[in-house]
Amino acid sequence: MKKITIIPGDGIGKEVMEAAILVLDSSGLNLEYKFAEAGYECFQKYGNNIPDETIKIAKKTDATLFGAVTTVKDQKSAIITLRKEMNLFANVRPVKSLPGIKSLYTDLDFVIIRENTEGLYSGLEKYTPEGANAIRLITKKASRRISKFAFEYALKNNRKRVTAVHKANVLKKTDGLFKDIFYEIAGDYPGIDSNDYYVDATAMYFITKPQIFDIVVTSNLFGDILSDEGAGLVGGLGLAPSANIGDYNGLFEPVHGSAPDIEGKGIANPSAMIFSAVMMLENIGEMDIANKIEKSLLEVLKEGKYLTPDLGGRSKTIEMAEEVIKKLKSKL
Ligand code: NAI
Ligand code: MG
Repeated sequence: MKKITIIPGDGIGKEVMEAAILVLDSSGLNLEYKFAEAGYECFQKYGNNIPDETIKIAKKTDATLFGAVTTVKDQKSAIITLRKEMNLFANVRPVKSLPGIKSLYTDLDFVIIRENTEGLYSGLEKYTPEGANAIRLITKKASRRISKFAFEYALKNNRKRVTAVHKANVLKKTDGLFKDIFYEIAGDYPGIDSNDYYVDATAMYFITKPQIFDIVVTSNLFGDILSDEGAGLVGGLGLAPSANIGDYNGLFEPVHGSAPDIEGKGIANPSAMIFSAVMMLENIGEMDIANKIEKSLLEVLKEGKYLTPDLGGRSKTIEMAEEVIKKLKSKL
């Protein structure tokens, strides 16, 4: 039996996690859940938003499902800490148009691969007499590892091109190194095209001609920003899942945060969380059920009868999940 760590977090993290668990439970899969805490409520209880115990549990199971957490002032980020502690160096964020969803584009299918362990999110930030500063750490090792991951991902998923995104014209040393290593690795993959753009131009191309992208590989901060932009292109944060992959077990989470503006109303879109669970099932080898859950959710989105308000509907989180379950049961 596969063991899954469940970290609902807080805010809508808990709401969308409840929906995803309902779907998983009705799939007939025999999963053992280990619940673990993180986030704001966890901080209020223990004075720590990411207890060692949570990291310990997550390291021991086959995969982790993570909802979302609210940032706690003066505390390190719970999710960034988890990614680092578990050495989940690659954050895979698909940008895919979905049937029936009103969005800026309906013909997109590319993937952002974000370096997860360093860059401006290295946690090397401090106050100084003049103000504050942060170190943007770029290592050869992590740059090689993420570029290699991007090309391997391209090979496995039948993708044609990998694009490196950076700002090497200004960040000459850090991003100069990132770019040089990218092309060094690209040399090992002659069957896959490679090119690069500056991040500012990329932000514009995402709007003007996003069809040119296949796989985008980039550093931590740029990947964070571009993936929200990517989500915006195909229907919003309520639909965008992600996978954090490393040498061991993966962690799967929606791209969105705890959404305090809609928290407690029961109207959060569960799709990003359910798609993240699908990515998790694929990762642990449960392809058949992953496929059936994905199809069921796509049908619900396409039919458009049970949609949450962010997609123009009037359904609650749980109503949408129940509709997915109905479709799923007819496929089991
Ligand atoms: P957010 O992603 O929580 O929300 C941005 C906007 O998208 C809001 O208008 C929200 O209502 C909407 N939205 C997000 N997910 C949705 C869903 N499933 N259904 C419908 N609408 C949805 O980002 P925001 O507001 O910048 O941050 C809120 C808190 O979350 C902050 O404390 C932030 O630090 C934290 N955060 C946590 C993340 C994580 O746990 N991985 C990621 C991003 C932010
Ligand atoms: Mg983000």
